[in-house]
Amino acid sequence: MKKLFAVLMLACLPMLALAAGAGLKLEPVDIDVSDKAALQDGARTFVNYCMGCHGAKYQRYERVADDLGIAHETMLQMLVFTGAKIGDHMKSSMRAEDAKAWFGAEPPDLTLVARVRGTDWLYNYLRSFHEDPSRPMGVNNRVFPNVGMPNVLAGLQGRQVIGCKQVALEVDGKKQYDPLSGSPLTHEACDQLTVIAGTGSLNPEQFDEKVRNLVTFLAYSANPVKLEHQRIGTWVLLYLAFFFVFAWLLKREYWKDIH
Ligand code: HEC
Repeated sequence: MKKLFAVLMLACLPMLALAAGAGLKLEPVDIDVSDKAALQDGARTFVNYCMGCHGAKYQRYERVADDLGIAHETMLQMLVFTGAKIGDHMKSSMRAEDAKAWFGAEPPDLTLVARVRGTDWLYNYLRSFHEDPSRPMGVNNRVFPNVGMPNVLAGLQGRQVIGCKQVALEVDGKKQYDPLSGSPLTHEACDQLTVIAGTGSLNPEQFDEKVRNLVTFLAYSANPVKLEHQRIGTWVLLYLAFFFVFAWLLKREYWKDIH
């Protein structure tokens, strides 16, 4: 009995860890891992902005190229910077000890991060870096407080700051309006993120799209057989539909003398 209890307690630990970070409401994101254009854009962002520090070591370049519809030569020219061969794993060239000394924490491998953290968390995390002079890198993150990672997408997003501002008043997720004038009601809220306009190379919609594509790539990487499953699933259903006709004909044949 005691053993069972201990096992149950251990099984609950990850839930407790997740619950601890649940104070902040995450903005949900729609991820479609069958969207090839999004995957290709996400893969490009990943190798350009993330692989300096993080690897995706359970994934091979070749597999990614094949799944995403990228020719092997194009993959090698555009997406492989480390001199790796097409069949190699997508490892980062940074040494773990160096990373630890520079950032205080080792950048974890990201192959499976979408399974561990979930796509909503990733989407919100990558958009939540903000300036904070008290931190060694000058940035902090609203979703992952005191993170060791610098804001690598700042050039695209622009400078983001945190503070108090007027935001729409919402009750149960619905915007509230003044009954007389019909204008939206607002209230002052703190802990709000604002991008300083004109400081990034993308506008907010383009940046969100970029991050969504990157998260789509991470979701694919955490479960690369999902695409294959969907393809095989279609064939299985077609086969069953086809087989049904013959099964039904056969059944009619067998039973015809009995009635
Ligand atoms: C300059 C190095 C560097 C670059 C480039 C970088 N990161 Fe990081 N990242 C880190 C470090 C260091 C950590 C660990 C931070 C900690 O635990 O405090 C981290 C943590 C993370 C985490 C949290 C993982 C977890 O579950 O705890 C995610 C997700 C992540 N990075 C995604 C990305 C993505 C996506 C990119 C590319 C857009 C990227 N990183 C680029 C250094 C980097």
